[in-house]
Formats: sequence, structure tokens, C-alpha cells
Amino acid sequence: MSESHTPAGGSARLNTGVAHNARVWNYWIGGKDNYEVDQRVGEHVAGMFPIIREIARADRWFLGRSVRFLAGEQGVRQFLDIGTGLPTVENTHEIAQDIAPDSRIVYVDNDPIVLVHARTLLTSTPEGVTDYIDADVHDPDAILERASQTLDFDKPVAVMMLGILNFVLDAEEAQDIARRVVAALPSGSYLALTHPTFDADLGGEGQVPAMKFWNENATPPITARSREDIAAYFNGLELLDPGLVSCSQWRAEPDSPVVVPQFGAVAVKR
Ligand SMILES: C[S@@+](CC[C@H](N)C(=O)[O-])C[C@H]1O[C@@H](n2cnc3c(N)ncnc32)[C@H](O)[C@@H]1O
Repeated sequence: MSESHTPAGGSARLNTGVAHNARVWNYWIGGKDNYEVDQRVGEHVAGMFPIIREIARADRWFLGRSVRFLAGEQGVRQFLDIGTGLPTVENTHEIAQDIAPDSRIVYVDNDPIVLVHARTLLTSTPEGVTDYIDADVHDPDAILERASQTLDFDKPVAVMMLGILNFVLDAEEAQDIARRVVAALPSGSYLALTHPTFDADLGGEGQVPAMKFWNENATPPITARSREDIAAYFNGLELLDPGLVSCSQWRAEPDSPVVVPQFGAVAVKR
């Protein structure tokens, strides 16, 4: 079963003249759902900061490992994936429902191209549910309210916030969004999050000029943050092993990829 609370008209809002994050991210991952402007900006950023492709792939692999961990080892059956991105080979509902067909998944994004492709995200098993909400992360209360039509907030929910709070430029607002989302969750729930960093110990200082170029030529504007700021999103939660690390190395095989300047962690609400 699948449902969508989306208004019609995603394609009418598409702007193919300006590079958009969801489409450029798709380009870096190796997808086909992007336009010439996205390829041009994506190439330029990759020229300035070549590890960006590794970051995009590592983030996506983190999604796979974390959903497998949450659905498999932790028995989570409800997922709220905020900042979903364009559908790709392994989406949250496919991984979760492969492990537990009755899993319920709500996707949230505000990019019109993701809305256009939402059909691919809404192919649920008969036992489970997938839903798509066209909404802005700046309004977490609206997201939670609409998600509660599909998810039971009296039972554990895993919130996936992968590469999304970096689009909330105001540091205090980003903390407030994380706080509000976590406050709405019952105990036994989880927060999985990734976020770019400028920290030199993950090689993040090189993305300062690339992000400046992005913010002058593409949308939406982005920022990176320090380890301390990113760790603070997990305040009140218990970080699970291995804690806040380069997302490429979170529960990865020993011979796994290089460190990328994108932190990732999963935490539980006790
Ligand atoms: C870097 S991509 C990450 C996609 C996916 N979570 C992943 O990790 O592969 C960020 C996504 O966040 C979405 N996004 C950016 N700003 C947003 C906002 N204000 N509200 C909702 N979604 C937003 C973009 O459209 C894009 O799809």
C-alpha cells in the first residue's frame, strides 16, 4: 500500500536553469536524473573538491548500512526519511521492507524533481506503507504532524536526516529542528544523521571554496559544521558504536573506503 500527501504540480515548479542539490547529488552518485546545468556545476565543484563524489557515495552507503542495522539488528519498523533525495538503487523502503515487509516509511523532501520521481519511492510491499510528503525541513512541526498520519508515534521511529541539516544555515535553527524532531519520538527511537564538516582531521577544510562556489551558483545554499556542532544534534540521545565518525567508516568493513569529510552517526533515545 502506498499513499501520498503531495499536491500536484511538482513538474511546474522545476527550474532547469539553476543547479539543484537533489539533481547534482544524483549526478555525483552516477545517476541519470539531472540536467546539463547540474552536470556543469557538479563538474566544477568536483574540479575544486574532487572527494565530493566519494562523499556522495559514502553517504548513500551509510544510508544502506544504517537502515539495515536499524531494521535488522534493532527491529525498527517505522522510518521518517527527511531530505530523501532522488530515488536510486537502494532506497530506505526497499532496504527496510526487504528485511521486514510490514515496515512503514515516510519520505520528506521539498525539491520538485524529487516530487516528480516520488512514484518510485511509493512502491510499497502490500504489508507495509510508503508515503511522500512535499515539505520543508524548516517546518519540523508540519512534517511531524503529517507523518503522524502514517507513522504511529507511540512506537519507535527511526528518523533519517542524511545531508539535510547542512541546508539550514542558521546554526541555532538547525539545533532547534533536531531537538523538536527528537522530542516527538518515543523512547526506543533512533536518529541517523550525516553532515558535512570543515574539520581538518577529516580533510574538510578543502570544501570552503567549493561551498562558496556552490552558494553563488546553485541552490539551496549549504554550510558545513564542526564536530562539536554536529555532535550537539544528538544531545539527549545515546550514540551507538562507533559514535560520530566519517560516514564512510561507520560500521564499515575493515578495508572500507577513505575517510570523507562528512560525519555520520546513529543514536538511540532511551
Ligand atoms: C544531499 S541530498 C541527500 C539525499 C539523501 N538523504 C542521501 O543521503 O543520499 C539532500 C536532500 O535534501 C533536500 N533538501 C534540501 N533542503 C531542503 C529543505 N529545506 N526541506 C526539505 N528537503 C530539503 C534536497 O532536495 C535533497 O534531496
